[in-house]
Amino acid sequence: MVTQTSQFEDDSAAPSGPPKMEAQGVSVFYGDKKAIDDVSIDIPTDYVTAFIGPSGCGKSTFLRSLNRMNDTIPTARVEGTIKLDGDDIYDPKLDVVQLRARVGMVFQKPNPFPKSIYENIAYGPKIHGLASSKDALDEVVERSLKRAGLWEEVKDRLDDSGTALSGGQQQRLCIARAIAVDPEVILMDEPCSALDPIATARIEELIHDLRGRYAIVIVTHSMQQAARVSQRTAFFHLGKMVEFGPTSEIFTNPKKERTKDYITGRYG
Ligand SMILES: Nc1ncnc2c1ncn2[C@@H]1O[C@H](COP(=O)(O)OP(=O)(O)OP(=O)(O)O)[C@@H](O)[C@H]1O
Ligand SMILES: [Mg+2]
Repeated sequence: MVTQTSQFEDDSAAPSGPPKMEAQGVSVFYGDKKAIDDVSIDIPTDYVTAFIGPSGCGKSTFLRSLNRMNDTIPTARVEGTIKLDGDDIYDPKLDVVQLRARVGMVFQKPNPFPKSIYENIAYGPKIHGLASSKDALDEVVERSLKRAGLWEEVKDRLDDSGTALSGGQQQRLCIARAIAVDPEVILMDEPCSALDPIATARIEELIHDLRGRYAIVIVTHSMQQAARVSQRTAFFHLGKMVEFGPTSEIFTNPKKERTKDYITGRYG
């Protein structure tokens, strides 16, 4: 199925300003096995970028290289250059904890800490020294939960455990937790795959609201979701980035045969 043009926002304008992140010639290996092969892409500041492609093509691997999450996998090795605001994020002098606050991540399975809702949000700002008093911390917690569209549902139960929330609420809590440290980029790896359609719709609305404030990159298996939430789409296949462009173009008028085959459902 080729998605109808009408469901796309106008994504024809070039992104304003320089890219937030730039990957140049990036390859990622697990031991001897190359999972990402020579990928170059500019992540725009004010757009949502979707990564699509069949299972195992390297979407998560590449996403994790954008905030050095691959560092936590002993066999993983990254080649090439990745820059954030023009600075190399693999520079050995760079503070990785700081980097991961600037480039936050939301995972497939919501993973709140086994702590209160309040503490889930307050933890990051505390360790990063972003709140100087209890009042300031309260304010960060409230603002982050509001921005993540969760405040009304939890404001009277901030001391309850984060793990006691529903799946969709937990995922919004994780988004609030990422927001709380004032990130510049939010990476989301299939953030809705464990959620029902209503919870999914709420996350999609949220992504829509957050766009412009943060550069957002979302991996999704749902082409409808990519079409709904993103303005730029990158199609990955067998470790390579085959095509990257305005979402409406990728879905309605792809330039590469492999992209066409994928979006028309010839393989998945
Ligand atoms: N920790 C790891 N150790 C070794 N190989 C890995 C590891 N993680 C991923 N791989 C391999 O790297 C390749 C890309 O995997 P990746 O998880 O990035 O794909 P994906 O596009 O995110 O797939 P999916 O859509 O199923 O999530 C696959 O061949 C996978 O088996
Ligand atoms: Mg994946």
